[in-house]
Amino acid sequence: MFSLDGQVVAVFRHQGRLYAMENACAHEDGPIGEGEVRGTCVVCPYHDWQYDFTTGACITDPERPRATWSVREEGGQVWLGPQLSAGSDSRGGEHDDGMEVIRT
Ligand code: FES
Repeated sequence: MFSLDGQVVAVFRHQGRLYAMENACAHEDGPIGEGEVRGTCVVCPYHDWQYDFTTGACITDPERPRATWSVREEGGQVWLGPQLSAGSDSRGGEHDDGMEVIRT
């Protein structure tokens, strides 16, 4: 994971290519980059929301994509480039058990 302008960015490698996506889950800011990767999908370790790290799409709630950045590896270093897509600021939502977080 990397920090860019105060935002934590998770970098994934898939079939030799790197992808950079906002690390904070759209549900409750869980660390997406610590989740299980299944193909191009990463599963948030907190409550299993799923994201396509190649596009930033939120599979669980399509209205809440994550931001993405261009990324490349050169000389043993990982370089983050311009932001490719914006993420949603919306957070919260129901859990599988029907409980919902209420922010005060
Ligand atoms: S914080 Fe990611 S699924 Fe709840």
